[in-house]
Amino acid sequence: MRIKRTFTCGELRSKDVGKKVSLSGWVHSKRLHGGLIFVDLRDRYGITQLVFKPEVGEEVFERAKRFHHEDVISVSGTVRLRPKGYKNPKLATGDVEVHISDLEVLNESVPLPFMIEEETTAFEDLRLKYRYLDLRRPPLQRAIILMHHIRQAVRSYLSSNGFLEIETPALMKSTPEGARDFLVPSRKHKGKFYALPQSPQTYKQVLMIAGFDRYFQIAHCFRDEDLRADRQPEFSQIDIEASFVDEEDIYSLIEGMFEYVFKETLGVELKRPFPRMAYKDALSRFGTDKPDTRFGMEIVDITAVVRNSGFGVFRGAVESGGVVRGINLPGCGSFSRRQTDNLIDEARSLGAKGLVLLRSASGGFSSSVAKFLTEEEIRGIRDTLSSSDGDLVAIVADKEDVACRVLGELRLRMAKRLGLVPQNSFNFLWIVDCPMFEYSEEEGKIVASHHPFTSPKPEHMEFLESDPLHVLSRSYDLVLNGAELGSGSIRIHRPEVQRRVFRVLGLSDEEMDEKFGFLLRAFQFGAPPHGGIALGLERIAAIMAGRSSIRDVIAFPKTTSAYALMEDAPSTVNDEQLNELGIRLVEEEE
Ligand code: AMO
Ligand code: AMP
Repeated sequence: MRIKRTFTCGELRSKDVGKKVSLSGWVHSKRLHGGLIFVDLRDRYGITQLVFKPEVGEEVFERAKRFHHEDVISVSGTVRLRPKGYKNPKLATGDVEVHISDLEVLNESVPLPFMIEEETTAFEDLRLKYRYLDLRRPPLQRAIILMHHIRQAVRSYLSSNGFLEIETPALMKSTPEGARDFLVPSRKHKGKFYALPQSPQTYKQVLMIAGFDRYFQIAHCFRDEDLRADRQPEFSQIDIEASFVDEEDIYSLIEGMFEYVFKETLGVELKRPFPRMAYKDALSRFGTDKPDTRFGMEIVDITAVVRNSGFGVFRGAVESGGVVRGINLPGCGSFSRRQTDNLIDEARSLGAKGLVLLRSASGGFSSSVAKFLTEEEIRGIRDTLSSSDGDLVAIVADKEDVACRVLGELRLRMAKRLGLVPQNSFNFLWIVDCPMFEYSEEEGKIVASHHPFTSPKPEHMEFLESDPLHVLSRSYDLVLNGAELGSGSIRIHRPEVQRRVFRVLGLSDEEMDEKFGFLLRAFQFGAPPHGGIALGLERIAAIMAGRSSIRDVIAFPKTTSAYALMEDAPSTVNDEQLNELGIRLVEEEE
């Protein structure tokens, strides 16, 4: 390179006027105007306006005329104040421009599949295929830079609180933990497989037994599961574990960490302590274990009000052991017939048998269903739901879990549509008093709600075998604006308790020894009481960056079908590679 840069493209100000400078970067745009060529030169620090005048010489001037978008160039020139009326207050460098005396074209770009702009209409598949171009766009640059600052702040906070950063293996034993494992075949041990970690859970517990009483790691985790906007097959956890702690220690550590990270990276002051909510209250008030508490519209129980109602839908649901619950949609009383029909269809598609919609008007309800309700019921429903004239009440009568789930989902969708979700608000919430186990319809057996290493509450220990579904655990989830950021627990540290829990989960002694023998053995050598948490780094960053998908804060994300579009992965491998691993592929049946 002949020309070496002396400034970045985001650096020059009016105080630099008169300086001879050199810049390097990408040709963001080019304009011919009044016999001059104006070029916006861009790098990750910003944009600087270059001016090519005919005096620069025919060769350079003609070359500049032929610039394409995203050519890479180096230039030298003199910093000048922009003439009055030509300053650009939107650019940090907008007071000045550089009058060019020398040019070196470092590389040319072929025509672009999409423009490098703040907002793009390009489809995500195209953006992922040309990820290096997408990553040049300002929102992605900001997100990747934010990710760096979050990582730095997390490390600095935890390190200054005595936590040691320790790496754990990426090739580990396959231990069923929830999601499906990614398996790695072993060449040295044909027929055997490593698994990529779904989380470093067992390793961090073993580190506690090893005496490293405060551990953390920004751990790369892998899960072969169905993907969504907030789920990738590989992601990072801020993984934390500590010895001789209880729940309160973890809450205050993590609240302190977020307080520090938000202050350092966004300059935002968080309110502490974070509120806490019992799991069962979250379900009944918000229909989900990760409530978005930035707005109201809570689910309200009106079972008692309509228990003996003349309206069969309500009475019938109560008689068969169900509930009647509702939400109040403010200002939606003016919805058209089509809008209310759509809402009913939506509720049905979410699993409700129907949806009763009542328009609040003139102190009562102006809907056809109202004729089946008594004065007292009408008043009762309006009062319990705090519904005012002009609002719309939406009611589901069903089994409790169905009613809450459907109303919870409608609540989220309607708040978004009605613009009731405040932006730039960060509502953290701890979910506590979670059940230890749940019944999985899919697997037809009891499974751990968090993971099997979670300690039951001591006062529930005696019901572990007799009534497992009512046992609460010492686990906690951290929720931010309706997203699950992380979860953790105080762990089991006694081998006999761990065996009891495994047994409830249907594991035989042989199975536990085969799968978790190393942990059970380690527990016998003086395992200290310990607990911890893991927080999804990308989910944190996405919310902080105001992005709706974690793909936007990951440099090279996969599609929702777990495909890497840029480099085309996964891909086939040759027979020699398969032979070495002792693997033969089965032809997919038609
Ligand atoms: P858990 O399975 O709840 O707990 O995971 C912790 C957090 O990791 C994030 N996360 C994900 N982020 C992106 N894509 C995914 N596929 C994905 N899966 C999980 C979420 C989640 O809250 N070992 C325990 C923690 C502990 O007990 O300490 C664990 O892994 O933000
Ligand atoms: P139907 O008796 O099925 O014609 O329903 C009468 C009204 O009640 C319709 O508006 C349905 O959408 C509604 N509805 C039916 N079942 C339920 C239910 N379980 N919960 C709430 N509304 C319902």
